[in-house]
Amino acid sequence: LSLKQTVLRVEIGEVEGIPFTKTICSTWDQVWKFKARPDDLLIATYAKAGTTWTQEIVDMIQQNGDVEKCRRATTYRRHPFLEWSIQEPSVESYSGLELAEAMPSPRTIKTHLPVQLVPPSFWEQNCKIIYVARNAKDSLVSYYHFHRMSKGMPDPGTWEEFMEKFMTGKVLWGSWYDHVKGWWKAKDKHRILYLFYEDMKENPKQEIQKILKFLEKEVNQEVLNKILHNTSFEVMKENPMTNYTTEFQGIMDHSISPFMRKGVVGDWKNYFTVAQNKKFDEDYKKKMADTSLVFRTEL
Ligand code: A3P
Repeated sequence: LSLKQTVLRVEIGEVEGIPFTKTICSTWDQVWKFKARPDDLLIATYAKAGTTWTQEIVDMIQQNGDVEKCRRATTYRRHPFLEWSIQEPSVESYSGLELAEAMPSPRTIKTHLPVQLVPPSFWEQNCKIIYVARNAKDSLVSYYHFHRMSKGMPDPGTWEEFMEKFMTGKVLWGSWYDHVKGWWKAKDKHRILYLFYEDMKENPKQEIQKILKFLEKEVNQEVLNKILHNTSFEVMKENPMTNYTTEFQGIMDHSISPFMRKGVVGDWKNYFTVAQNKKFDEDYKKKMADTSLVFRTEL
């Protein structure tokens, strides 16, 4: 059984010292040369920060609250996942690059790339970027469960082992610490709206209004309420176009842990032992000493 699992899991390589799947590594030159268009919107996150949630909010805004239009395709197909591609006999193939190239403007594109690996054309074209960050502890817990349920990720090992990998940045898309700090720095030089998962949970209406303003869009109260309702965790969990149940059959196993898992702030408390928490906090302080960035780990 363990042999079978190893064979089915993805293989890992590196780009500029950052771990990526072998497939991403093999297409990296094309990703780097990607031609952004001035009206592209990039949604950038470290994995598990609330990407899908933000994508749905953005699409609802762009479709002026039209739920049917938002159900035209899965999140994965509506918004090309820039660096991602799969060429596996068992799943439908996917190339974020090809999907993006074929898509008429204006496009909304998803990425998990750390800021230094964003294709230069996004900066040259001065594209708007929404970055969403989530506190390290909840990101770690969410990423752990995602590794358990998705064979598109390497085997996480035990909880203890995965925590170690996360802390040392030996996970796909690299160090959480460098990612959130790098983008935080970049926001002063570029058109970046930097949001927090915790703020979105606490006051989704306010955060949606920030996105509206950033996108220079206006909606009436009725549409705003519709966006709020349809992007709630409960509704998105049941929506086959947002909950990842219609793609990745054979790759994602929702019976191990659903993609739409809990959607809360502070679930880390159910996983960290007192000793692990102490170790994590001490290490965190060191890694985050050189930034003004502050996260909330509970509401
Ligand atoms: P949990 O595993 O903590 O539940 P991403 O889309 O970046 O992969 O992030 C996935 C995480 O966001 C999961 O966290 C998922 O449950 C949560 N999420 C997705 N939609 C959400 C929503 N509408 N409200 C709150 N959390 C949401």
